[in-house]
Amino acid sequence: MKGKMTWVSPSNIALIKYWGKKPNQIPCNPSISFTLKDSVTTTSCEWEESDSSQFELRFEGNRNEKFEQRVGKYLDSLNKELPFLKRLHLIFDTKNTFPHSAGIASSASSFSSFALILTQLETLLEGKNYSEREFMDRASYLARLGSGSACRSVFGPVCAWRDELLGEPVETHEIFKSYRDTIVIIDQGTKAVSSSQGHALMNSHPFATHRYEMAQDHFKKVCEILKTGDAHALGKILEHEALTLHGLMMSSPTPYILLKPSTIEVIDKVKTFRRDHKVPLYFTLDAGPNVHLLYPKEYEPQVTIFIQNNFKQYGLIFDQVGSGPKLKESEVY
Ligand code: DP6
Repeated sequence: MKGKMTWVSPSNIALIKYWGKKPNQIPCNPSISFTLKDSVTTTSCEWEESDSSQFELRFEGNRNEKFEQRVGKYLDSLNKELPFLKRLHLIFDTKNTFPHSAGIASSASSFSSFALILTQLETLLEGKNYSEREFMDRASYLARLGSGSACRSVFGPVCAWRDELLGEPVETHEIFKSYRDTIVIIDQGTKAVSSSQGHALMNSHPFATHRYEMAQDHFKKVCEILKTGDAHALGKILEHEALTLHGLMMSSPTPYILLKPSTIEVIDKVKTFRRDHKVPLYFTLDAGPNVHLLYPKEYEPQVTIFIQNNFKQYGLIFDQVGSGPKLKESEVY
C-alpha cells in the first residue's frame, strides 16, 4: 500500500505555562492554552510500505538538517509505540504560515501535525478502529512525545494538559472562542537559551516547588474563569504567569534574560491603554521577547487602532482562537 495525506495543525499560546519537565515531556505542572487559528503548520506525507524504513523531510521546500535530525530522532523513539514505522518509506513536506522564530511555537504546530499523520497511518496500517475522540487523544499523546506543548495543539479552542500524558478540550465561555491574539514581533533572532535548556534549568531551580504550587492554583482558577467569561480575571492571571516565566529564567541557577527593552515598552503601553480606556487587553509572553496581546473580539476595532498607532514599527500577526487541526487530504493508492 502507499498513499498521501495532509494535516493542518495550529500553534497554541499558553495561558498557564508549562515550564519544568521530567523525561518524555512529563510536565511538572498542569498547563492550559488557547489554540490559534491562522498560525498553522501544514504537513503532507507521502508513504509507501516496504521492507525497510526510510525518511525524508522538506521544510518549506528545502532540506533543513537540524529539523530533519530532530524529527528523525522523534520517529526513532516511536519504533516501539508504532512498529509499522520500521517498514515504511516516508517523505514529509512541511511549512508554516508564520515566519520562523516569530515567537509562535512552531514545535507545537509541527509535532502535532506529525502526530496526526502518524495516528492516521496507525489506523490505516494497524487496522485501529479509533473513535473521533480516541483518534485525537492518541495524536495528543504522540505529539507530547515530540514536544510537550504540541499535545495542546490537537484540541481547540482551549486545551488543558492536566493528565500528564495528553491534552484535553475544556469547557469554555463563548467570549473566549473568538478571542483575539495579536503577536508583536520584537525580535526574530534565535533565542540564546532554548526552551529545552530552560526546562532543564527548572530541575535545580531554587523556586521550583513554589512555582509548581502556583501553577496548580492558577490552573484551577483559570478553568473556572474560562467557564464564567471574566476577561479581566483571566488577564490578571495571564500577565502573572508571563512575568513569572521570565522571572524564573532570570532567577535560575544560570540566570538569563530573553526580554528586550522593547518588550517592556510594549507592556507599559498596553497597561496604560487598559487603564485609560477600560479595555480588557492583556499580554502574555512565551519563552522569548515577543508579546502576545489577548482581547475579546468586541474590542477589536479600538484595539487594532491602538496597535497600529503604537506598534507599527514591529512585525504584527493578527490571529485569533481557532477550533483545532484539520485533515486536508488522505488518499490510498
Ligand atoms: C514557554 O513545549 O517547546 O512555551 O517539551 O521541550 O519541546 P519541549 O518544550 P516546549 O515548551 C514550551 C514552553 C512555553 C510554555 C508553554 O507553551 O506552556
